[in-house]
Amino acid sequence: MCGILGIITLKPRAIGRDLVAGGKRLSYRGYDSVGCAVMSDGKIDLRKDVGKVDEVSKKLNFSEMHGDRGVIQLRWATFGAPSKNNAQPHLDCDGDMVGAHNGNIVNTPQLREQFMREGHTVRSTNDGELCIHAVEKYYDEGYNMVDSIRKAYGDLRGDYAFIIFNNKEKKLYAVKKGSGLVVGIGKDEMYCSSDLPSLLPLTKKIIFLSDGEIVSLSPKEAKVFGVSDGKEIKKKIIEYRENAEHAKKGGYEHFMLKEINEQPVAAEDLIELLDESEYADKFLDVIKSSDKVFFVGCGSSYHACLLGSYYFGNIAKKVVIPVVAPQFISEYGHTVDDKTCVVLVSQSGETKDVINAMNYAKEKTDKILGVINVIGSTLMNSSKVYLPLAAGYEVSVPATKTFINQCVMFLYLAKKMGGKSCDDMKKLPPLIKDTIESTTDDCKRLAGYLKKWDDMYCLGYGSTYGIAREAALKIKEITYSHCEGMYSSEFKHGPLSAVRRGYPVMFISSLKDVDVIVSHMNEVICRGGRAISIAEKSEGMVRNASELIELPHSTDYFSPVLAAIPAQLIAYYLSVSRGINPDFPRNLSKTITVD
Ligand code: M6R
Repeated sequence: MCGILGIITLKPRAIGRDLVAGGKRLSYRGYDSVGCAVMSDGKIDLRKDVGKVDEVSKKLNFSEMHGDRGVIQLRWATFGAPSKNNAQPHLDCDGDMVGAHNGNIVNTPQLREQFMREGHTVRSTNDGELCIHAVEKYYDEGYNMVDSIRKAYGDLRGDYAFIIFNNKEKKLYAVKKGSGLVVGIGKDEMYCSSDLPSLLPLTKKIIFLSDGEIVSLSPKEAKVFGVSDGKEIKKKIIEYRENAEHAKKGGYEHFMLKEINEQPVAAEDLIELLDESEYADKFLDVIKSSDKVFFVGCGSSYHACLLGSYYFGNIAKKVVIPVVAPQFISEYGHTVDDKTCVVLVSQSGETKDVINAMNYAKEKTDKILGVINVIGSTLMNSSKVYLPLAAGYEVSVPATKTFINQCVMFLYLAKKMGGKSCDDMKKLPPLIKDTIESTTDDCKRLAGYLKKWDDMYCLGYGSTYGIAREAALKIKEITYSHCEGMYSSEFKHGPLSAVRRGYPVMFISSLKDVDVIVSHMNEVICRGGRAISIAEKSEGMVRNASELIELPHSTDYFSPVLAAIPAQLIAYYLSVSRGINPDFPRNLSKTITVD
């Protein structure tokens, strides 16, 4: 999704360089064009084009852009095709004001028509340009910038954040409505950006903005105003501690591989945190006092919810309904009341579908719980109680360590709620490490076999159903092959017809379900298919599977978590063997902030 970053500094300097560096830190979000605008000697210097940050900034020499304020934007196209014209930032009619947004202006067609009718020079079909004209309109009528933004806020429908400045006052303005916006306080410099990690190399002093807030930045001061009444709001400055190691690949070829290898430590950190924090109990108190519980998420986070509901049902004896976020409102919305607990799971804490579900649920219940990885995210700030995943920053678009920690978190919580000891959880991180070490070679080899197939299935049963869905998502996401994840017993109800000689079907099984999985494997094998199993060694698996990726011996509750690891590795090596960069798969973004 789009990313914006703005800087204002006391003395003019080559801020283009810092904007490019900040832009690179936002590039994990996925984008197709880049632009940079800097206020230089009373004039706005605007450069932009389609392409990656490195490419465009080199071609247009962003690093030489000199001035005392500026903004960089990475655009992921929704309104208007990816093109130079539609790339952001955008100028107002006479080139005195410039800005860029992140998010979606849903009344774009109406506003474009209106502005054109009113005589504005609309140069693109991109919705970001409308934010600038919306502010320009009121500024030209004589309102100051804060009031112009307040009035524009009333005209712009949708969820967005934008940064804007003009050539008259040495200020940078930004507003937040539904999309992330964070302010950084520097020495004689101020910053604002779509996300926290992009600011951390610049400053550790942070202000988190809420929806409906406008920030006015000068080099020495950050003032926040409410959109509703224009009054100043006193905000807390949070001192954030985090090192920048996460932004480096640490000798690995890709962030994804690095993050897979960080999983043992990430899981250990999480377990330690849960052991020490009183928040796990607070979180569970809310669940215990509820009649109905939903686990809500998207993509990998939803798959963790599937496993989480299995754990809660089987260990804590609490029925939980796992649901993909956009389905929550339409299907279960009418059942939500003040005895309903909604657990929203999102590594970014910004996924629009999840935030929509949260906003809806909040109207009916205060039992809103969050499971997030990104500190300071919208979901974190809006939850009654939240639990951090403690996975550290995840750069790669495919979720790996955050997914594993979501599963670990649910297992821990289910055990705690079920009155079971969590002491054995400490055995899980070394098992994760063993699994990475012992399955890597097999996964590489298997990727070689799968390379010639553009279509496959991944099946699970009981506790491994969510993992099968996750394995299939990983393969789709970073190899561009079709791979469907489903309940293994459902396969015979239609998809079995796809099986032919050598056709790959992966089976993920816990020891408990070996017998049933063996039957399902044989339905594939007897039709010439190749049944690849990810499971612990057992007689049934050894005798039946065409190939076994062997998991270390553990427990029925640990093995689904471990099984996710070879699935990640298979997807990774298959992706690399096809010449794809698994960190940044085409068309995708790490943080999906649109509907
Ligand atoms: O930040 P979230 O956990 O809310 O993200 C949800 C999905 O977009 C995300 O898990 C996505 O499916 C992953 N990139 C898959 O690897």
